[in-house]
Amino acid sequence: MSHHHKDVRAEGHGEVYEVRNVQIAPGKYRIAGGSFHTDHSNHPIPPKATALHPVSLPSYGGDTQFVDMHAAYDELPEATKRRIDGLRALHVVESKFSPRKLKPLDEKSRAELPPPTRHPLVRVHPENGRKALYMNPVRIEAIDGMSESQALALVGELLAHATQKKYEYRHQWRYGDMLIWDNRSVMHQANGDYDMSELRHLHRIMIKGEPVIPAAEASTGEGMKLAKSFVSQTPYAQGRRPFFRYRDLGVEAASGGRMRAYHNTCIKGMTEPTGWHYHDCEMQFVYVLKGSLAIEFEDGTVGTFTAGDSFFVPGGVRHNEIYVSEDKETLEVSIPGKIGTVNVERPDGLPEKLREVSNERS
Ligand SMILES: [Fe+2]
Ligand SMILES: [Fe+2]
Repeated sequence: MSHHHKDVRAEGHGEVYEVRNVQIAPGKYRIAGGSFHTDHSNHPIPPKATALHPVSLPSYGGDTQFVDMHAAYDELPEATKRRIDGLRALHVVESKFSPRKLKPLDEKSRAELPPPTRHPLVRVHPENGRKALYMNPVRIEAIDGMSESQALALVGELLAHATQKKYEYRHQWRYGDMLIWDNRSVMHQANGDYDMSELRHLHRIMIKGEPVIPAAEASTGEGMKLAKSFVSQTPYAQGRRPFFRYRDLGVEAASGGRMRAYHNTCIKGMTEPTGWHYHDCEMQFVYVLKGSLAIEFEDGTVGTFTAGDSFFVPGGVRHNEIYVSEDKETLEVSIPGKIGTVNVERPDGLPEKLREVSNERS
């Protein structure tokens, strides 16, 4: 993703921005990123990640600090969470309340700025589903529905909470380091605690993000609708594997893709194991309606499941479906709706013979 200052680029590398301490008046220096912030939050689609690599480091100091905005959110009082979950903040390139003065933009850079943009104060991480404070005291100009003084007080209060030492990781730079962080999860700041006559120079790139997911939307279920599924209107479709058919129970469409529910059945008994794999998803739940299936799990067990049995598999847990009866029918639920499958080797360290668990034996 492109950086604001079009004139500050590593030579020959248009996507690499140069971070340096600069003397702006005798004895006065500007430290890029010298107070807690998240990168380029004035963009409608802010960068998901930023990477830094040191070129020249001062002999001491100049660490970068990060604070965990998921943990900070989680530990807020419930009343505060309710108060802020639905709030939206206006982000501009440089807020009139910014704790530091930013480098002025040249004409070309200014012309390419996006218009001020609104982001939720609490966002949902698209990959782990956790809420995080999405704050940037440098760029937040206003909060919808609040007076200036209320907004300032709230930002101040949240900032004081989020920048406590218990949420912090402090990185002491060494040559050869390359740090990449998730702007959806952390705020960061550079430290101006070194001898300013020494150069602190780093290369920066930013990685394009996706639209910010508001917490309020996720919790109130905006984009979701009531769904009803009737047998006569949900025909079987051909599954990912040739011996499966499934009925889509309409949950994926109704939940805006957050969850999926399928009624799965067999066309004929499985002829060979699926092989060890895991699913690229948050979680999966299977309830057996009819017939039976046997699955090996990475915890060293092999489970036989018959009508009324079920299992829950967090994303990433390796398993191997070794047997399916011809009359098998299951209800399968996944979060999110779309799940990927990654084939892997049989996990190291598993005994030759796995421990059998079933309705009769566990
Ligand atoms: Fe930054
Ligand atoms: Fe599977």
